[in-house]
Amino acid sequence: QESMDRMEVVETLCGINLPGHLHTKESLQFAQDFEFRDNDVVIVTYPKSGTTWMQEILTLIYSKGDSMPAENIPNWARAPWLEQHYFKDLVRNGSGPRLITTHLQYRFLAKALGRSKAKVIYITRNPKDVAVSFYHFHKMANFLPDPGSFNDLLKKFLDGTVSFGSWFDHVKGWHNQKNAVNIFYITYEEMKMDLRGSIERLCNFLHFPLLPAVVDSIHKHCTFTNMKDNKMANYTLIPNEIMDHQKGKFMRKGEVGDWKRHFTVEQSIIFDNIYEDEMRGTSLQFTW
Ligand code: A3P
Repeated sequence: QESMDRMEVVETLCGINLPGHLHTKESLQFAQDFEFRDNDVVIVTYPKSGTTWMQEILTLIYSKGDSMPAENIPNWARAPWLEQHYFKDLVRNGSGPRLITTHLQYRFLAKALGRSKAKVIYITRNPKDVAVSFYHFHKMANFLPDPGSFNDLLKKFLDGTVSFGSWFDHVKGWHNQKNAVNIFYITYEEMKMDLRGSIERLCNFLHFPLLPAVVDSIHKHCTFTNMKDNKMANYTLIPNEIMDHQKGKFMRKGEVGDWKRHFTVEQSIIFDNIYEDEMRGTSLQFTW
């Protein structure tokens, strides 16, 4: 019955499984051909790495702490997804520094971004927490395939057959692109440990200085406790047929290390071995 209730349509585009009601061949082509402007700000993430959090922070940076847009406009309209066909016009017609979001791998956008000085913000999160968050998201998001058990989802996550493709390919592709793209790297864990300092570092990268009191107010607005109740950011505006809020919350826990409550010792060892193999030669470090 549960899988019959799902509206999942999986599109396999360029070897990556994507939710088919949001992505088409044309929408992917639109993203690849996109003419970025130098003052665009592009949020890039593998899903469940802090996308919504960054959308909120950047909205408040550019509103200079005025909470009006963050409390009245849904996050997907403030920082629309480049590759999702519903958002084409919103992305294209935005003004000022356009905030644009994408889950695409680097290879799709290398050409388009290479033509511009658009500012790219790449967020990573330790992949054990990503896998746990993704598992819970699969349970409530009816446009994603039924995840089965956590172990089933973990296997797919590790072999890259999960929706949105391989976490390893995503992270390795976007890593070390400082010479090709105007890019700022930050981790979910850094934001958790020092949100205020992270906002200041973002302002520096964006060349958008703010008064300390404004940074304080953004900091206060963007804590998990505060954001989880903002219906313009917690996805409760989305109908239950698409995201079933009886089955779980989008703003679920917002913690570092929740994986320790989900992984068995054996799953953790398998994960570590694959991680070591895949990430050999990279300098990425995570707080687990
Ligand atoms: P959990 O499922 O671990 O709670 P994305 O927006 O990329 O889909 O990521 C969603 C994850 O970010 C969820 O993780 C969500 O709770 C967390 N998140 C969203 N806003 C946050 C905040 N202000 N502070 C900490 N975590 C936040």
